[in-house]
Amino acid sequence: MTPKPLIAPSILSADFGRLAEEVQLAEASGADWIHVDVMDGHFVPNITIGPGVTAAVRNATGLPVDVHLMIENPERYVGAFVDAGADRITVHYEACPHLHKVIQAIRVSGASPGVALNPSTPVESLREVAGLIDLILIMTVNPGFGGQSFIPESPDKIRRLMNRLREWGIQPPLIQVDGGVDPESAPKVVRAGAQVLVAGSALYRADDGLASALARLRSAAAQPVRSRV
Ligand code: DX5
Ligand code: ZN
Repeated sequence: MTPKPLIAPSILSADFGRLAEEVQLAEASGADWIHVDVMDGHFVPNITIGPGVTAAVRNATGLPVDVHLMIENPERYVGAFVDAGADRITVHYEACPHLHKVIQAIRVSGASPGVALNPSTPVESLREVAGLIDLILIMTVNPGFGGQSFIPESPDKIRRLMNRLREWGIQPPLIQVDGGVDPESAPKVVRAGAQVLVAGSALYRADDGLASALARLRSAAAQPVRSRV
């Protein structure tokens, strides 16, 4: 029923000293999008990259550039990231008291809007905006760092989201997951309804290289598990 899951390597785990090559390697290995994690040291403890590096990613690839803003006041930076070449911009529900307005601003700027939920934020929070966005990101770790463990309750949360969308009569936007996604967790989230898999360390830190790791993740994601024994 679901088309094959899309895979979005997160450059957070790439070698920043060779960023263009790392992005091109992902593209050559069959990645669908490039995921760019922007952190401000306020919304999350870590600080990563901004519009300048996003523009360098844009120049290195023809793939959609998927920007995940883990920052406070994201509305102040939508224009800068669109100018840098972002195709998609996802903001956090928890960072936006005026979420509806931010979504509109992203749409008007020409990018595709998404909303992310932290693990502790209920899916019901999306009631008023789910019909206005192109993507819902269910965080499967607490945002801030790569290499964390997948939160095992996440597939149930995705199922609850799919049920709510049905109850609300809203055509589901793309469902993305981010954090601890690897060949073990991927089939569980895909079976629950995830269509876009973000993966950082499972791809860029794999012993046998990104190309093999991406093939392994794709193959695991294509075979959703029935249930745990
Ligand atoms: C975490 C970021 C993720 C991160 C995922 O806050 O949003 O995109 O890069 O890294 P892994 O796949 O290593 O958990
Ligand atoms: Zn991310």
